Amino acid sequence: MGVKETESEVTLSFKESEVRVLKFGATVLSWKVKGQEQLWLSDKAILDGSKAVRGGIPLVFPVFGKATEGPCAKLPQHGFARNHSWELLGQVQESPLKVQFALSPDQLSQEARDQWPSDFTLIYTLTLDSDSLTTEMSVENPGQSAFGFNVLFHTYFRIPSVDSVKVNGLGKVPVHDKVSVSKYQADGEPVTISSEVDRVYSEIADSNKIEILNGDKVDVDIERTNLPDVVVWNPWIEKANGLGDFYPKDGYKTMICVETGSVSSPVNLEPGSSWVGRQVLKAHL
Ligand code: BG6
Repeated sequence: MGVKETESEVTLSFKESEVRVLKFGATVLSWKVKGQEQLWLSDKAILDGSKAVRGGIPLVFPVFGKATEGPCAKLPQHGFARNHSWELLGQVQESPLKVQFALSPDQLSQEARDQWPSDFTLIYTLTLDSDSLTTEMSVENPGQSAFGFNVLFHTYFRIPSVDSVKVNGLGKVPVHDKVSVSKYQADGEPVTISSEVDRVYSEIADSNKIEILNGDKVDVDIERTNLPDVVVWNPWIEKANGLGDFYPKDGYKTMICVETGSVSSPVNLEPGSSWVGRQVLKAHL
């Protein structure tokens, strides 16, 4: 039980659960419940701080994807939060175990500061309970001018088989399909995967519980607060082949990204204001 810190990582233990966090990107690398790993991490994920981690829970901020125009246009895909080292603020609660990390402009590279000069504070709170992991992002604007941002928890779930995975609870909502480059209304049926999938489901009510099933059994459910968008991503064969840090190459068969966030349009944050979004991942063993 408790928190262990090394130069590069933080390990949280609570009852029979454990979480490993890389300070680089405050990236959750592993979440084990009763010894069972819940997250997918590439065997070739780069953990030395030279590249965002392929797997676990990378954090997307302040832009989702690659902006071609506007204040985020100079930033790399998915922004800078996953590419910088966060500060461990420490443990703030014992049971369930809660720790916080922070990122602010003075921790950014000069390049990132130049690309996105807004003043901000991010506080990332992780709460580990016996069968759940809560990830919460608070965005504060201590500056003099408003800024817009996206936030997303880019969670890679480990699954028994892509052939039997279903994502339930998204609802009959607008979809932006990045593979077919089209927009349509979802039919509300559980989502299955049999080719590359890269879709943003938007306007999902907080009351919709998202479930990841293996056949008919719920493996994980996700509750959200203030996170109306859910991205479902599986790179399938060709995309996985093209990603140098994606390994094994057939790893797409045992992973699915179900990413909760606020990405369809930027959240506008006025000076002195703050915003909080949260997901609770619950494992059903
Ligand atoms: C998803 C996007 O969130 O992240 C995909 O919808 C993207 O389009 C994927 O390919 C992985 O992105 P990256 O930058 O980590 O390779």
